[in-house]
Amino acid sequence: MHTKVLKIHQGSLAKAAALLQRGELVAFPTETVYGLGANALRGSAVAKIFAAKGRPCDNPLIVHVCSMEQMKLLGIWNPYAQQVFDAFMPGPITMVLKKQPHIPSEVTAGLDTVGLRFPEHPGAQALIRLAGPIAAPSANLSGRPSPTEAAHVYRDLAGRIPLILDGGPCGVGVESTVLSLAGTPTLLRPGGVTLEQLRAVLPNVQVHQSVLENVHLDSVASPGMKYKHYAPSARVVLIAGQGEKALQSARRQGLKCRLYKSTDPVEEAHMLFERLRSADAQKLDLVLFEMPSQSGLGLSVANRLLRASAFTVLHPNQAIQLEINGKNYTLSA
Ligand code: TXA
Ligand code: MG
Repeated sequence: MHTKVLKIHQGSLAKAAALLQRGELVAFPTETVYGLGANALRGSAVAKIFAAKGRPCDNPLIVHVCSMEQMKLLGIWNPYAQQVFDAFMPGPITMVLKKQPHIPSEVTAGLDTVGLRFPEHPGAQALIRLAGPIAAPSANLSGRPSPTEAAHVYRDLAGRIPLILDGGPCGVGVESTVLSLAGTPTLLRPGGVTLEQLRAVLPNVQVHQSVLENVHLDSVASPGMKYKHYAPSARVVLIAGQGEKALQSARRQGLKCRLYKSTDPVEEAHMLFERLRSADAQKLDLVLFEMPSQSGLGLSVANRLLRASAFTVLHPNQAIQLEINGKNYTLSA
């Protein structure tokens, strides 16, 4: 299949909406990351997303809408949903509600809940207005870093989808915050809306254990959190503290390595997936990231980096063994 990349304008939006209505897939920009969209009300269209990404079929999708009315048609509304909607939508947040019966089970992976998001990106909103509710995960191959530019989507999905709408680089850079409101309000995935912002509206919001820990989830609240995620081919290691010693230690042993210092969380979030992807373009063996502070967007960056590194964290005055390309290395900090 030939994959077209078109800048967003009226003509390309109309083309994209027609494809979606015919049950085809279209990648489109949002303020967080690019999404891979399908008509959310057609199970056979949604099934194509799982095939194109190689996504495990027990991982549910977020449905993107462009109004509160549309949300109420898809999820069972409650007072928390109203509060969160009023405070943060449109914006980089997804709320999980009990689902209305007509949502195809392909969207929800058989769960009785649905993730709903009203993106702020004008291009995304325009597309939803034309095409109706759009089910969309991030537009990467399963397991790879999320795409924050059209070129990232092309790299992963060229030949698998007919159209990518190019809206330039995404602003936020990490995905939406996923908040369950189907029971006690619980943060399932930190994202563009910070925990501090949530707590200002819902002081009792719980934080799911999987946000910063490698928990093995059986009856899974946030199914996405159990899979390998965001990983480039290079090994990723998080450094709790200053990273220079670890960088020198890696280079002394002949590893092609690069260090990203922790700076400002907004910048770190914006650059995160580009940094992970460029590790492969630069053919690095190892990428080191200083552990970000866990406040504000730093919590989201830490959550993604912990997964990209398979929870490999090096503490000051410690050493770890790494096997890279079949050889053993000792990395010390
Ligand atoms: O910013 C974003 O959220 C992007 C853009 C495209 O909107 N989308 C995105 O989708 O990141 P995805 O599929 O890569 O991540 C969605 C996360 C997964 O961890 C999934 O398990 C969780 O949301 N999720 C979706 N529906 C859920 C549900 N009903 N209950 C619990 N978790 C849910
Ligand atoms: Mg994803």
